[in-house]
Amino acid sequence: MSSTEETRTADTGTTAGRPPLRAAIVGTGAVAHLHAQAIAEDPRVELVAVSNRGESRRTEFADRYDVPGRYATHTDLLAAEHVDLVVLCTPPDLHRQQTLDAYAAGAHVLCEKPPALSLAELDAMQAAADAAGRAFAIVFQQRTGTAAAHVRHLLDSGALGRPLLAQCQTLWHRGDDYYGVDWRGTWDGEGGGTTLGHGIHQLDLLAHLLGDWAEVDARLWRVARDIEMEDVSTAVVRFANGVVAQAVSSVLSPRQTSVVRVDCERATVEVEHLYGHAGPDWRITPAPGVGEDEVASWAFPADDEPSGHTPLVRAVVDALWDGTPMPDLVTHARRPLELVTAIYASATYGRPVTHADLDDDERFRTSLVADVTDVRPA
Ligand SMILES: NC(=O)c1ccc[n+]([C@@H]2O[C@H](COP(=O)([O-])OP(=O)(O)OC[C@H]3O[C@@H](n4cnc5c(N)ncnc54)[C@H](O)[C@@H]3O)[C@@H](O)[C@H]2O)c1
Repeated sequence: MSSTEETRTADTGTTAGRPPLRAAIVGTGAVAHLHAQAIAEDPRVELVAVSNRGESRRTEFADRYDVPGRYATHTDLLAAEHVDLVVLCTPPDLHRQQTLDAYAAGAHVLCEKPPALSLAELDAMQAAADAAGRAFAIVFQQRTGTAAAHVRHLLDSGALGRPLLAQCQTLWHRGDDYYGVDWRGTWDGEGGGTTLGHGIHQLDLLAHLLGDWAEVDARLWRVARDIEMEDVSTAVVRFANGVVAQAVSSVLSPRQTSVVRVDCERATVEVEHLYGHAGPDWRITPAPGVGEDEVASWAFPADDEPSGHTPLVRAVVDALWDGTPMPDLVTHARRPLELVTAIYASATYGRPVTHADLDDDERFRTSLVADVTDVRPA
């Protein structure tokens, strides 16, 4: 039993006399509920304060989760409360400044996706974390769940042979009503289109499984929606390990699905789900001639925990509680944002881009505003 498990299961039912970590949520909208629920399940952390611009949403949320500290702004919150962990659930254009303010106040940060609207913003956030000696953890919850961990291990260990080819599909549906809100559908308000807002989840899981990317060749399309950005993107990503992946992000797909599939020498491994996956959503299909014993050795763990915010928040609390580095589940914030940036840059320049292109590219370091091909009928 690990020291974490011992303290968690001590007969006080809480933390064996050690005071819980003090957490605050900034932005009490839709996704904040998932964090509050995850925190409520863990005796090692307590939600002591929230901030939200709007009064009614703030009060309703704080009443629901019995949170004593209630503030209109994160600056008021940080001035009044000592907090160990700030959880940012605000719109992405606010993440950078709120992260810097949290580090100035001495807190660790757990930040919702997308962590930032550009690589320059993200680098500033990471630099502030490093200077403050505090953790910068990000939410890409498709990485979590026992099945995803198992598949990552199978791929890393070479059990499935060399990975060769991959598919990454975010085929979602967002109608005109979704874009009716004033900040949506604009570069200023959203920072990017469906690739940044939605596809990033599957791109992140793909890269979590396959590692670093080497080259991206992409196009951005406006096929149907009356928006400034893309409603579809198509990309070919070559990974550093030689895998060639095809990635599509869409908000035009009535039968919605999220797919990540990797064809390896000895098997195809794939997951199909919508917004979260569990063991039964994953499948491994052996190549011809692979024996039963080998197939049996790939079996998914019987004790299945689905992906989601609960295991992700627990991983963050584990590290803070034990004083260990943040795990892969919540680090590598740059990789998914680099992939998205490379898609936008490639579509704009009309050619494949590499890390070297992004390093040299001041335009796409600071903004994702990109060229979109409009194919809507006149
Ligand atoms: N991981 C996921 O699956 C997932 C799902 C949904 C949203 N998200 C991300 O979470 C973030 C929030 O999304 P949401 O859907 O919860 O948005 P939302 O609009 O429902 O909630 C955002 C809240 O932040 C508040 N807010 C705005 N400015 C503020 C400020 N300066 N200080 C304090 N509060 C402020 C708003 O009043 C609102 O209540 C986004 O980055 C989004 O991409 C992630």
